[in-house]
Amino acid sequence: MRVLVTGGAGFIGSHFAKRLAAAGHEVVVLDKLTYSGNRANLEGADVELVVGDICDADAVARAGAGCEAVVNFAAETHVDRSILGAAEFIETDVHGTYVLLGWARDTGARLVQVSTDEVYGDVPEGQSSREDDPLRPSSPYSASKAGGDLQVLAAVRTFGIDACITRGANTYGPNQHPEKLIPLFVTNALDGEPLPVYGDGRQRREWLHAEDHCAAVERVLQEGRPGEVYNVGGEEHENLDVTKWVLAFTKADSDLVRHVEDRPGHDRRYSLDDSKLRALGWSPSHSLSGSGLRQTVEWYEQNRAWWEPIKSGEYRRYYEEQYGARLR
Ligand code: DAU
Repeated sequence: MRVLVTGGAGFIGSHFAKRLAAAGHEVVVLDKLTYSGNRANLEGADVELVVGDICDADAVARAGAGCEAVVNFAAETHVDRSILGAAEFIETDVHGTYVLLGWARDTGARLVQVSTDEVYGDVPEGQSSREDDPLRPSSPYSASKAGGDLQVLAAVRTFGIDACITRGANTYGPNQHPEKLIPLFVTNALDGEPLPVYGDGRQRREWLHAEDHCAAVERVLQEGRPGEVYNVGGEEHENLDVTKWVLAFTKADSDLVRHVEDRPGHDRRYSLDDSKLRALGWSPSHSLSGSGLRQTVEWYEQNRAWWEPIKSGEYRRYYEEQYGARLR
């Protein structure tokens, strides 16, 4: 199968592109190589990389020539950046999805939209989100992803497009940009820098290894029913516990932990009911508290050459804007 993987030089997208290529598929990656896209993520992989934007219909048509399916990982994804400014989120996550749907409509290709559990918003203790629950996004980021999801579902109904949506939990693993909790805390701990815990740190997230996330998306690509949404859950932990384990695995001093001003609109908890996907035969093979986090820490220890260049230049400006006042 020839597959277009948009955002395939980013974190989850590159794991997915490599996975499909290793399984013998022809893979074309279309990636804008923004701050979070990285050629190094595809090093040694048997994929064709086309640099371009999913908002550009001509670029999509050129990259997608001959492809039977598109899997859309291209997105602005960081909640904190969306609070600083959301224009790019709306552009890529909503308009970009719309452009891909136009291409899928013209060509008859299948589309898998990779979305997020954040579209459901806060989930009270004892409950889990199901795929047909109302969307109550809390941040400009999750509102943009919800907008993309709704465009997909409308296009299935109105134009008969063959499309599915996956909604994944917090994903971790090698090659994740160090703006997100785990790689930020691991790399800061390795450098003896503070770990900025938002608020009381009692927020809960479900943690899903990138490999398990990609296996889920592949399963939906192969077996998902058009118009259906599939939750991809993970292992639920409090941020303070994740922080404690990062300190233990990096052998860093607990004095590095700093409770700082909370994220505005911060969701306390996400929880997914993923029984629908499990009924398709998917189940995770990694566990964060098993060896998942330890192995991820080892990867960052052994791959400074990957993350040190990222934590310079634009990143330093972002870091100062995001954390400067909080940490002073
Ligand atoms: O749930 C899926 C989502 O997970 C994805 O759709 C998003 O793209 C991804 O960014 C992630 O969203 P979160 O906002 O949950 O991830 P983040 O790594 O930014 O934060 C995880 C938790 O850690 C959250 O409760 C906020 C907290 N946190 C995060 C950072 C960056 C801190 O306490 N301090 C920090 O410096």
